Amino acid sequence: MRGSDLGILLPMTTEKNRTHYSTPFHRFRRLRKSAALRDLVREHAVARADLVQPLFVVPGRGVEREISSLPGQYQRSVDALCTYAGRLVDSGILAVLLFGIPEEKDAIGSAAWSSDGIIQEATRALKKEFPDLLIISDLCFCEYTDHGHCGVLREGDVDNDPTLVNLARQAVSHAEAGVDIIAPSGMMDGMVRAIRSGLDERSFFDLPIMSYAVKFASQCYGPFREAAQCAPSEGDRRSYQMDPANGEEALREAAADVEEGADFLMVKPALFYLDIIHRVKERFHLPVAAYNVSGEYAMIKAAAAKGWLDEVQVVLESLLSMKRAGADILITYSALDIADHLP
Ligand code: PBG
Ligand code: ZN
Repeated sequence: MRGSDLGILLPMTTEKNRTHYSTPFHRFRRLRKSAALRDLVREHAVARADLVQPLFVVPGRGVEREISSLPGQYQRSVDALCTYAGRLVDSGILAVLLFGIPEEKDAIGSAAWSSDGIIQEATRALKKEFPDLLIISDLCFCEYTDHGHCGVLREGDVDNDPTLVNLARQAVSHAEAGVDIIAPSGMMDGMVRAIRSGLDERSFFDLPIMSYAVKFASQCYGPFREAAQCAPSEGDRRSYQMDPANGEEALREAAADVEEGADFLMVKPALFYLDIIHRVKERFHLPVAAYNVSGEYAMIKAAAAKGWLDEVQVVLESLLSMKRAGADILITYSALDIADHLP
C-alpha cells in the first residue's frame, strides 16, 4: 500500500504522527520485508549433509515389508536395501544408521557379533556398491536377545559389566565388516570405554564412536519396537534408559561419555528434549546428533494423513528446531522425503 492510499483510508495517519512516539521502538519488520532479506539474515538451516536415514535390515532376498506403525518405512533384505541406498545416494544423503533383525535370537544375543550376521552382511554389501556412503551401525542387543532387553540378564535385570564385554565383541565385528561409525544405544555404564578399548586393541584406532549418551526411557519408541522386533517380553527399560524428568543427570551421562572417548554425542528423542540438546551442545563442544525417533515421525505422519498438517513443511520446521537447539546431525526417518527440499 502506498502512502497516498493510506492517507485516503486513514486521514489522521500523517508522516508527522509516525514520529510522535516519545520512546523509540525497534522495527524488526525491516529485515523481514523480502525473501532476499530474510535469506540474508537467517541464522540456521537444515542441509542434506546433516541428515542420517535409519534403515532396518532383515534376512532373506527380495524382502521389502512396510512397517505398519511407520508408514513409508520398510524392513528390507540386503539386496533391497542396496537398491534403496542408491536412491539415498542420488538424493545427496551421506549417511545411514543400520538396525539389524537377525534370523535367530538367544539369551545373550550372540548373533550380534557373528561375522556373517545381518549388519555385517549388509555393511559389506553396501560398502561394495557405495563406498562413500557413511554407515553408522547401531550397537545394542535388544534385537538379538530372545527376551528383548539390551544386554544379558541377571535376576530379571540387565547385567551391566558382562554386557560390556559383548558390546566390545559386537563393535569389533562391525568394524571388521567395514562400518564407518559405531553407535552404541544400550545405555550401559562404561559402554564407550569398553568399546573404545575393544576397538583399539584390534587397531581400529580411527573408528569413531557416536554414543547414544543421553537416551530417555521414552514412550516415543513404540513404532520402532515393531520395526526392529525388539520390545522387551517382560518389564521395561527404565533401569538403564534415563528418566524423562531429569536434565542435570543428562549432563552427567554426557560428561562420562566424553571422558570415555566418545567422538559424537547423541540426544534421543529430539523434540521433547530440545533443552537437553541445547545444554549438551553448550557444555561439551562435540558434534551433537539429535535422534528424531519413530514416535515423533509417526505423530506427524498420522496428522498429515488426516490432512491436518503439511507433512514436509512440519518436518522441516521440526528439524530446524533441532538445529537451532544445537544439533549438528539429524537422524530422521523423513530424510529421503525431505532431501529434495534442502540445499
Ligand atoms: C534399541 C533402540 C531403540 C531405538 C533405537 N535403538 C528402542 C528402544 O530403546 O527401545 C528407538 C528408535 C526410534 O524410536 O526411532 N536400543
Ligand atoms: Zn537396545
